[in-house]
Amino acid sequence: MSKQYRKTYMEVYLDKIQQNYRTIKECAPGKEVIPVVKADAYGMGAKQVVSYLIGEGHDLFAVATLEEALEIRLLNDTVDVFVMGLINSSDLHTASKKNIVFTVPNEDLYHAVASFDGPLRFHLKIDTGMNRLGFKDYHRAYELMNDLSKRPHLRLEGLFTHLATSDSDESFAQIQIRRFRDFVLKAPFIPPMVHVSNSSAAIKFEKDLDYTTHSRVGISLFGETLEKNLDILDPVFKVKSHIIDIKELKKGDMVGYDLTYEAQEDERIAILPIGYADGVTRKNQGGHVSLNGLKYPIVGRVCMDQMFIKVDETVRKNDIVVLVGDALTPVNEMANRQETIPHEILCQFSKRVPRLYMTNRK
Ligand SMILES: Cc1ncc(COP(=O)(O)O)c(C=O)c1O
Repeated sequence: MSKQYRKTYMEVYLDKIQQNYRTIKECAPGKEVIPVVKADAYGMGAKQVVSYLIGEGHDLFAVATLEEALEIRLLNDTVDVFVMGLINSSDLHTASKKNIVFTVPNEDLYHAVASFDGPLRFHLKIDTGMNRLGFKDYHRAYELMNDLSKRPHLRLEGLFTHLATSDSDESFAQIQIRRFRDFVLKAPFIPPMVHVSNSSAAIKFEKDLDYTTHSRVGISLFGETLEKNLDILDPVFKVKSHIIDIKELKKGDMVGYDLTYEAQEDERIAILPIGYADGVTRKNQGGHVSLNGLKYPIVGRVCMDQMFIKVDETVRKNDIVVLVGDALTPVNEMANRQETIPHEILCQFSKRVPRLYMTNRK
């Protein structure tokens, strides 16, 4: 990593990702877990996360785009990389040449695949109710499968669907699970991989998914889940900064853009070199950070590069502050403040925040 001039960074505990993988795998013994490492491994850094996981023996990864797949291919020639999003028909030659497994979710891409004369590896995506990608006409999907079975250079390796409500509406998730089971059971043949689950489903619904072979798991590898009161995963990262200055305020002094905070008495306000350009959004005003095992409130507007916390007499310049990721600053709390889900919190830390990788942390 290049020299770090500003003490604002994200610590990433790579071994905890592998630990979470083991935990999720225990939820469905016998089923394979595909690490989903799209969006730069949910902000943790795909290059480092994937290299680490390859070192741990993983040989299959899922991403969203062909760019992300090619980034992994640069790291390793042999692992399987599966693109879950839609690739362009004009990029089939790249998928073929680089041995990338991709998704066929519609007729247009299917026709391009059917007329391609090189080897291709892909999964068919079935829409069971989310109305995003995937074939809604199951009979048509069977016709395509029959057609494919006559073309050995076109390898249909998997069938999959995606759940719209795995964490929010169990009854709809079960409807999708049943629809996909019917689809699979009536299919002209069953390819080697059949998959439905994301993290929430892998944790909760595997008993209903005995007809599947794999789960595609992202957020839980990175220590988070949308399942409330579930404490089986290890946190994987912390965002830290430090105190660069402390202002002694008099009662009535005001703080930051728009002067939204007014000292109610003589107070100490500390300045941190981290702001919304790093990923601590303005919605975090009113939240808190952790410092020396205590919570301190975020006051005033969060600026682009700096922010303010109200501190007591014990706090000193250079003290380290945790913005998110420890027991006092859990990711789901930041997500609640921002009215979003943990996925978005992990993805929001910008490239300006260096990632420091650690393994075997005690
Ligand atoms: C198609 C698909 N499968 C699996 C996942 C992984 O989901 P999660 O991060 O909730 O495990 C995603 C993520 O959005 C996805 O889009």
